[in-house]
Formats: sequence, structure tokens, C-alpha cells
Amino acid sequence: MALEVVAKECVEDQDLEAGLALKAEIFFRTTLEDWKRGEPRTASIAFLGDAVVGFIPLALRPFKLAPGVVISTAFEHCVGTRKEYRGMGIGTAMIEAARGFLEGRAHALCVYRGHERSAAYNFYAKTGHHDLHYVRRLRSAGRSFGPQEGVELTRGLPPVPDLGSRMLAVYESAHSRYGGYPVRAESSWKKADNRGYWNFWASENGRLLGHLLTRERNDIPLTDGKPGKPILMVMEMAASDQDGEVARRLLKAAIHAAAENGLAGVVAPICDCGPFVDAYLDVEMQPGPRNNIVMALPLDVEGIVHGAWKSRFDPDLEVKVWTPRREFFLTTSERPSRASVLLEMKDDTLVKWVMGRLDLRARIREGSVTAVGANERIISALADALPFTPWVFHHLDYI
Ligand SMILES: CC(C)(COP(=O)(O)OP(=O)(O)OC[C@H]1O[C@@H](n2cnc3c(N)ncnc32)[C@H](O)[C@@H]1OP(=O)(O)O)[C@@H](O)C(=O)NCCC(=O)NCCS
Repeated sequence: MALEVVAKECVEDQDLEAGLALKAEIFFRTTLEDWKRGEPRTASIAFLGDAVVGFIPLALRPFKLAPGVVISTAFEHCVGTRKEYRGMGIGTAMIEAARGFLEGRAHALCVYRGHERSAAYNFYAKTGHHDLHYVRRLRSAGRSFGPQEGVELTRGLPPVPDLGSRMLAVYESAHSRYGGYPVRAESSWKKADNRGYWNFWASENGRLLGHLLTRERNDIPLTDGKPGKPILMVMEMAASDQDGEVARRLLKAAIHAAAENGLAGVVAPICDCGPFVDAYLDVEMQPGPRNNIVMALPLDVEGIVHGAWKSRFDPDLEVKVWTPRREFFLTTSERPSRASVLLEMKDDTLVKWVMGRLDLRARIREGSVTAVGANERIISALADALPFTPWVFHHLDYI
């Protein structure tokens, strides 16, 4: 049965109210006031006649791919089709509408998605989203620690002048060589200012050395089922100069606070690289299976390269890309005596490359990217211009 679905950007308050009501039925309630107060957002909405049958909130976020490389993204969350109408193309129609109305406003649709065997993962894969980054949960495993010197615990944020700028300095010092996160600003930590957050601060002579933001919540089961016991969920950790000793003290303080307060431990959703992985392992937190994914559906591959990465390419080089679905110039040169290169790859490979998640040298060596007109020097220059970048994940950004 072909449905007469109309999917479009949700702009009117009345439609937003209806979309949020559907979201409340499927997920949880957000008021119109909260919607407008939060980070910049829009939404894709689907109608069947006058009835709202689908709604996708989209948080508009500048997102760092690599040092100095920022794109604009729209993060999908609470993606929902009314139950009776699932599997009829409504979700796909909303994604297609978003592709249109986000043109010129976002380089990519992104989503934080649960594990790969979940049913909804299938939806994102089928609508053209690509896996970029994997996250797993590490759990404290019963090892106990005492109170940690120089580490203070506050519920919410402490009333420290310039706290935002201090946290920003610490965060940047810890993560500047990484990508994979929404660009931080002094206001980024506002949501950690409530009593549900147990925040740990390492300082020395009044100087902030590091912070560990955790949130008290019920453990999330790995598969569908009842929520687990209350734990402290790591939302973000940062230590100046990537100082592992500070990170270890912060984690020990959190494990201690959890035990003292009858909580079942500390759980950290993190990825396998990042400045503090060794600190987590040193305090004997145990890795679980990978169970979250950062996925992206680029809306404007050429815009990402020509905008965010362009200054890194050799201006004398002309690079054409071929995939089974498209052909375009990655870079062009105005000069007559230019080298011209053709790179051939699958679309998934192209997406990972332009998002900073692919090592071009390795792909050429193994043959999954093939090249015409390139030599070692040119391949190196291209791989360095658009390099694989390690990404970090903070649960604070989860939406
Ligand atoms: C996920 C969801 C939004 C998809 O919306 P939809 O309107 O059913 O999507 P479509 O009909 O456009 O489906 C597109 C493709 O994804 C597949 N797909 C969609 N939902 C699926 C599911 N739950 N399990 C397996 N495949 C699914 C469809 O089979 C279809 O593939 P096909 O074209 O090869 O048949 C909808 O199932 C839903 O609201 N689920 C509950 C909420 C949820 O889990 N949201 C996602 C996490 S935030």
C-alpha cells in the first residue's frame, strides 16, 4: 500500500507541539519551552493527512572532525514513526526531507546509535548512514580505593568564577589532537549543573588540573531488559596535558564515592583510543563489547572537502574521485602544469575518508582504494592532507 506521506521541516509551533507529543508517546516528554531553550534545533516531521505520523528532532551542532577541521552537523535523536505505520517508508521519507531542507545548513546528518544487532541500527544503515566510531562501556570491577588527595566532589557545578573558561582550557589541553566531538564552548557544561551529576575536580594551588563529570543513573542493560542498579556513569573526563596520573586519581575518587554511597560502581562509555584509556585500565575497569556507534550520512561530501579540508590540499593537484554512485572533483587546479589523479573507491570508503576516519595509505596498499596517475609522493601528500584522525567520545554529548 503506497501511503500519501508528506515529510518536511517542522517550523510551526503547532506542528512542533504535535511532533513533541508523538515523541513523548515513543520516548519521553520535552515541552515546547524546553525545546526552544536548549541547543539550536530543527526537526523533520511526517504527516498522513492532518495526522503527525513521524518526527525526528535534529540538534544543530558544529562538530570537530580533526584539529582545525569543523563541519556543521544535524544530530538525529528520538527518531520515531507512529507504531501502526512503521516499515512503510515514513522514516525514510523524513530522512529524505531532511536532506533537502538542510542543504546549505548542515554538511552531515549524524546519530549516536545503539549496538549493531539492534533493529533500529538496520534503519540507519538502510537510509545511508555509515559507521564512523565505536564506543564500549568499561566497568569498575570491585577494586576499591580510598579518598584521593587534591580531588573534590561537588553535586552539580561548583560556584567558581570563570569555571567555564577553566574547564575549556583543561578540555582543550586534553583533547586538542582528537576529533569526534561537538565543538566545546564555555557554556557546554551547563547540563552538568544539577544534583544528578557527581563531579570530581582535581586541582593544585587553586589551579584546575582535571575534571571528571559523572551522572548517577541506573545502569543501562546491554540488551533489552530491566534497568540495572544505580551507578555513576562517566559523562566526560579531561586532564591538562593528558596527565594520566590526574586521570587515575579522578577515577579512583569516583570509584571510592560510588562505594561509599552504596552505588554499584562506575561505568564509562568510551572508545578504544583517547588520552585516558590507560588510566581506565590502570584502575582495573573492565571493557565490555562495543555497543554504541557514531554514524553519519554526509549531505554534502564536496562541501566538506572544499570547505573544511581545502586548505590542506596541494593547489597544483587535481584529484577526481570515482565511486560506483558518483564522480566529482575533490580538488581542482587553475594552473596548466598540474598533476591529475583519479581515486576509485566505494561510497562507504569515501565517507570515512572525508570524515577523517580512514588511512588512505593503508587502503591503497591493501587495494580497496585504487589510483590512476599517483605515485608514492602524491599518495603521501593526499593521505596527509586528509588523514585518519583519532576520535574521542564523551557521553555528555549523547543525545
Ligand atoms: C526506527 C524507525 C524510526 C524506522 O521508521 P520507519 O518509518 O519504520 O522506517 P522505514 O519504513 O522508512 O524503513 C526503512 C528501512 O529500515 C528498515 N527498518 C526500519 N525499522 C526497522 C526495524 N525496527 N527493524 C528492522 N528493520 C527496520 C525497514 O525494513 C526499511 O528497509 P527496507 O526498505 O529494506 O524494507 C521506527 O521503526 C521506530 O519508530 N522505531 C521505534 C523507535 C526507535 O527505535 N527509534 C530509533 C532509535 S532513536
